[in-house]
Amino acid sequence: MTRPAGPAQGPVAVLVGPMGSGKTAVGSALARRWGASLRDTDHDIEDATGRRVAEIFAEQGEDAFRELEHRTVVHALTTHDGVLALGGGAVVHPGTRAALADYVARGGHVVLLEVAPDVALARVGHDPNRPLLAGDARERWAALLEARQAWYDEVATVRVRSGAHPATQVARHVERLLARG
Ligand code: S3P
Repeated sequence: MTRPAGPAQGPVAVLVGPMGSGKTAVGSALARRWGASLRDTDHDIEDATGRRVAEIFAEQGEDAFRELEHRTVVHALTTHDGVLALGGGAVVHPGTRAALADYVARGGHVVLLEVAPDVALARVGHDPNRPLLAGDARERWAALLEARQAWYDEVATVRVRSGAHPATQVARHVERLLARG
């Protein structure tokens, strides 16, 4: 239950990874272990706009969503001191990647959750609030990962396989990796 050393200001750890990689489940387990709160930028955006993520995509388009997401992530990286889960596409925005690099330079941890497609699709393949998976969810999910893999690799300080074990076990593994520094 050791909370890792982190930046003077900002989250103890940030979770990134594709849709269905378990960011919320692993984030909750980590937050419980560390007596911290979990914040999720999709929820922040929905609270701030009064709109579901799918509505923002439909009404304003992906670029507008990415701008909102960028501002939300930047804000959370300085104001939230618990665990922070980002939407799977947050790494698409160069400004968000730069903000994550700054957070890491300040001593932050960015944890990439990696997951097998079958596990991810069983979790989110039919979710209407995941507009980017509409249509052939398997094909869309794989194409998004291929397009984003280099960005996940760029921002991550540690990577963990998620999905094969319960979230509590994945969280223990994350904690061990972060304790190594
Ligand atoms: C998205 C992932 C979603 C959400 C939106 C777009 C993406 O978050 O932000 O539907 O582009 O991968 P989760 O990763 O929490 O599902």
